[in-house]
Amino acid sequence: MRKIISVAIDGPAAAGKSTIAKKVAKILNFTYIDTGAMYRAFTYYVMKKGVDPQDEEAACALIPEVEINLEPGDVVLVNQEDVTKQIRETYISSNVSYIASYRAIRLALVEQQRRLARNNSVIMDGRDIGTYVLPDADVKIFQVASVHTRAIRRYEENLEKGIQCTLQQIEDDLVRRDYIDSNREFAPLRQAPDAVLLDTSLMSIEEVVVRVLEIIVAKTGYEVPKL
Ligand code: DC
Repeated sequence: MRKIISVAIDGPAAAGKSTIAKKVAKILNFTYIDTGAMYRAFTYYVMKKGVDPQDEEAACALIPEVEINLEPGDVVLVNQEDVTKQIRETYISSNVSYIASYRAIRLALVEQQRRLARNNSVIMDGRDIGTYVLPDADVKIFQVASVHTRAIRRYEENLEKGIQCTLQQIEDDLVRRDYIDSNREFAPLRQAPDAVLLDTSLMSIEEVVVRVLEIIVAKTGYEVPKL
């Protein structure tokens, strides 16, 4: 039987983590786990309930009634409702950092994330995967890009999806979210000491995929199927 391998990809918002993780997972036949989607789904539920996402006590009181499922094809369900599209809307992106800063919500979602990594080879992306969720991950990558590059990438993605916004709005929102994610008390965004730093500002998606595969092979000896 093949050894179970875990790959953690952390980094700031819109650094291209999920694009790369999805492609690498497909090549290696690993399960891709988008932990940001879980925090987004929780935020969606809080706001649907009319609860203020900045009200920690009220948001955390919803924990027992929220069930989040990540399904094949990047489908995200909250209590069986398909919220795949809604969780990418601007009002969710602007509020998710508050929800992700609440310890009780993090503990609930982290437990689920660890369970998912127990029996399958996974590529998990987020902010605290290498430092907190999977501290013993076989491979840790800290993926970064300049804030301007990240804003342009997210702007182009939004245009494609028909989401209205300006480049300046996106850049301001990324800076604000990174600040909250990096300065929260519990499991903040940090590069793990044993993570490989990967600056993708000047790299194409294909170049990043190849580099990540190289890192996985070097760290684990895993044989990558012929592309
Ligand atoms: O990766 P993303 O933009 O979809 O993440 C949404 C938010 O969730 C982001 O503000 C950071 C937070 N997050 C987190 O705190 N920890 C994770 N493991 C993943 C995401």
